[in-house]
Formats: sequence, C-alpha cells, structure tokens
Amino acid sequence: MTITFLLNGETRTLEVRDPTQSVLDWLRAEGLTGTKEGCNEGDCGACTVMLTDATGTRALNACILMLPHLDGCALRTIEGIAGPDGRLHPVQDAMIAHHGSQCGFCTPGFVVSMAAGHLNGRKDHDDILAGNLCRCTGYAPILRAAEAAEAAPVPDWMTTDAALNSAKISSGGEWAAGPEGGRQPPFLPTSADALATWYLARPEATLIAGATDVALWVTKQLRDLPQVAFLKHCTDLAQITETEAGTEIGAMVTIAALRAWAEGPHPALASLLRRFASEQVRGAATIGGNIANGSPIGDGPPALIAMGATLRLRRGEARREMPLEEFFLEYRKQDRLPGEFVEAVILPKSAPDLACYKLSKRFDQDISAVCGGFNITRKGSNIASARVAFGGMAGIPKRASAFEAALIGQPFTEAAITAALPALAQDFAPLSDMRASAAYRLEAAQAMALRYLREAMGELTSVLEVGA
Ligand SMILES: Cc1cc2nc3c(=O)[nH]c(=O)nc-3n(C[C@H](O)[C@H](O)[C@H](O)COP(=O)(O)OP(=O)(O)OC[C@H]3O[C@@H](n4cnc5c(N)ncnc54)[C@H](O)[C@@H]3O)c2cc1C
Ligand code: FES
Ligand code: FES
Repeated sequence: MTITFLLNGETRTLEVRDPTQSVLDWLRAEGLTGTKEGCNEGDCGACTVMLTDATGTRALNACILMLPHLDGCALRTIEGIAGPDGRLHPVQDAMIAHHGSQCGFCTPGFVVSMAAGHLNGRKDHDDILAGNLCRCTGYAPILRAAEAAEAAPVPDWMTTDAALNSAKISSGGEWAAGPEGGRQPPFLPTSADALATWYLARPEATLIAGATDVALWVTKQLRDLPQVAFLKHCTDLAQITETEAGTEIGAMVTIAALRAWAEGPHPALASLLRRFASEQVRGAATIGGNIANGSPIGDGPPALIAMGATLRLRRGEARREMPLEEFFLEYRKQDRLPGEFVEAVILPKSAPDLACYKLSKRFDQDISAVCGGFNITRKGSNIASARVAFGGMAGIPKRASAFEAALIGQPFTEAAITAALPALAQDFAPLSDMRASAAYRLEAAQAMALRYLREAMGELTSVLEVGA
C-alpha cells in the first residue's frame, strides 16, 4: 500500500508493509529520533507531532497514529519546528529563556504542542499542554514560555503545510499489490457508500477511525489486525448537519470538533469534552469510535443518552435508528450486526437542563471512575421529566430508570432528590476496581445528583473556580 504525505515540508511516498505500524516507530526507524517514546499508549505526549489536513493543523500522539493516517496530510516533527536556516521557533526561544527544560526528554513533545497552539493562535495553554507530562521541570516555567511566545508572529516556514492539497497528494486506496505478511489488503474508502459496500462483504474486518482505542490493541495487547479499513477519508461522515429532527453528528466527527461545535448549543457537553483525554487524543478520537467501542467508562455515551440522542447504524444500503441507550446490550456487546457501522448520532437542538460530571483521579487526561449525565426538566416547581445516565456504574453506559421514576412528579428540592437517591442502588451494582470501590462509585453518583440540584439553584460547584 502506498501513501503520500509531506514530512517536514518534503513530499514522501512510502510503501506501507504493515498498515497498523505506528508513526512513532516509523519516524524513529527513519532516524527522526527527536520524537520520543514514553508510554506508547497516548498518555504522556512525548511523541507529539503536528498533522495538517483540510480541517487544519493539530497536535497528535505519534504512538497511536498509524501510517495510513498520514496519507494526504502534512506531518511536522520536532526536527521541522526550527527554520531551515537553523533559526529557532519563538516557542523554542521562549523555552530557553524561561528555563522550560531540565532532562529534556519531554521537551520535544512540549515544543510541538506549543508550536501547534501558537500556529492556531491559542492561548489556553493549560488545556493545550494537559496531554504533555514532565517529571522534572515543573509546569510553571513551561507555561510561562508558552505565554511569552504568544505575541511572536508565526514563522513563515510554519505556514507552508496549510497550502497542501490533500486530494492531490493522497495516493490512498486499496493495495495495488497483493496481500503482504498474511494480511488482507487494507482499505481507505473516500465515502460512507464505499465503506458500506466494502464492509458488508468483509464483516470480520476492523474499522479504524482515530485509532485512539484500536492502536492500543496493537501496542499493548500485541494483536494482529489482519484486515482493516481506515475511515479518515470518509469526509461525508465527518459533518455536523442541522436537520428538522435535530443535529446530526457524523461518526467521524472528532471529539475536538464536537467540543468546538457544542460550545454554542450545548455548553454542558462542551465542558465535559474539555476533560476527555487530552488535546492530542481529542484531535484524533471520534464520537463514532467512542460509541462503537462500547466501553462502560466512555465519556460520550452518558451525556448523549441524557440528552436523548438517537443512534443511526448503516449496513449496506439499510439504515436503522435507535435510542442510544438501546445500543449497549451488555459488557462489550452492542446491538450491531455483522457489516453494520455507526453512521451518525442525532442530538436534540437544545437541552438547556443538561449537566455532565466526570469524576476521575486526575482532573485532566484521565479515564472516568464515574461519569454522569443529568437532564431534568421542570414544570412549575415540580420535576416533569428526567433522563439520567451513568458511565462507570455498570458493564455498559446505562440510564438510571428507577431513580428517574422516583423523581418524576416530585418537587425540585433537596429533600425530594435526597429521598430518591436510594433508587440509584436499585439501578446500579457497580464494580470495585483500581479506579474506585463500588461503595465510592455509588456515593459519588448520589453526590452528583445533589450537585445538579445545587447548581440549578445557582450555587457555584466548579472545582476550578472559587466563590466569594
Ligand atoms: C490516552 C487516552 C486517553 C483517553 N481518554 C478518554 C476519556 O477521557 N474519555 C473517553 O471516553 N475515552 C477516552 N479514551 C478512549 C478513546 O479515545 C475514545 O474511545 C475514542 O472516542 C475512540 O475513538 P477513535 O476514533 O479513536 O476510535 P478507534 O480507536 O478508531 O475505534 C474504536 C472502536 O470503534 C470501532 N469503530 C470506529 N468507528 C466506527 C464506526 N463508524 N462504526 C463502527 N465501528 C467503529 C473500531 O472498530 C473499534 O472497535 C482515551 C484513549 C487514550 C489513548
Ligand atoms: S509515547 Fe506517550 S503519548 Fe506517545
Ligand atoms: S524536562 Fe525532564 S521530563 Fe520534562
């Protein structure tokens, strides 16, 4: 399989022998060893690279990016951040001036994240750098460096990638040569129609969207994926479309794009997604992958179920829709037929009573112990309807039906909500694991319900703000 991309401004055409090989492994074998390997699972940011495609430039983790993801894109590594004449990038100058590096292992990853943020005119440095870990410098000098570089103009050598003509450069498609190494030819469809036809004929194949889950099957579980399709060129699956029924979010919409869109109509969803993994993961991960993966601790489903989302699946030409909660049958088992894929999720145009809470050991870049979505509407002073869903409380993302029933018709008061809380123990018998004990999870879910009430009453509950 041949892919074509720009590497630090130079066109590269590459014969890919293993489509699941990580970009990190390939770069280091090429001698571009400035990109470091820390965790090899998307957690530390030591391997951060910049990728530019038709949607813009973003920082991604090379350890969970697979070579076919590069097709038609411009890749910039730490070796391409300074100018061709050796001039340093303003963020590099600022890192030196502000003593932002000690042992230096994490520094290339930080610099690439900072350069991507600088290119995009971003000033939310805490957020941009939450996916980069540093053991020795401490974050204050690094954040100072990012702030100091804000005003410097983007160097001209950093603007050339944006001129890339993705369609012209791409050489993606089915392998021209026969299968290699016992693998079946991978597929890079350019539309949902092409994917539907191909997948119907090969239902045992693995679909790869952002690969932020799938890459770990390869890097950590050492699994072989004999037949894969990369959905990255299916731009028709990456659209957000307003329809009469609601807002249709295509399966390939990234978490970063969903978050940016949600800032307007669904700020509670946007603020939850700010805590979804890190900048690098959000730029690759898709909402379709989050749903299809079916993890009981995924952050998308509890919020979307509370909103009343509808899921659309497609198999060949046939499509069917279902309330999102009905998709999750039991632990890691979803209502998905062979050859069927997630096409879109449809959200209501507004959900003004939505609130979402994520509880994890670390504020940023951590998997939820419990994630709750609450959408309780009132008529007068009484509760008229309730949609409450949790992740981390069962083998699947699940609605709290007994709790909802106990709320409806009750006054929206602390006494009434407290009286309904025991119903959560009817809905859920959570597990104890390394993230939290069963008792703690149940208590945390109950505390979230009270937090919802207090916030609705105007109390400040944000852990990032201090109220007077
Ligand atoms: C460091 C790190 C941190 C993370 N933090 C979080 C977090 O905070 N919250 C959270 O919820 N998740 C988190 N994740 C998990 C992951 O990022 C999400 O589940 C993500 O949304 C998966 O999307 P993807 O596009 O990368 O899916 P992929 O990895 O490409 O695919 C995941 C699964 O979905 C299938 N699939 C993908 N697209 C489709 C489709 N359209 N139709 C049918 N099947 C499909 C694949 O075959 C695979 O089974 C984290 C992952 C990493 C590596
Ligand atoms: S090596 Fe840690 S995120 Fe890639
Ligand atoms: S400078 Fe040593 S890990 Fe960051």
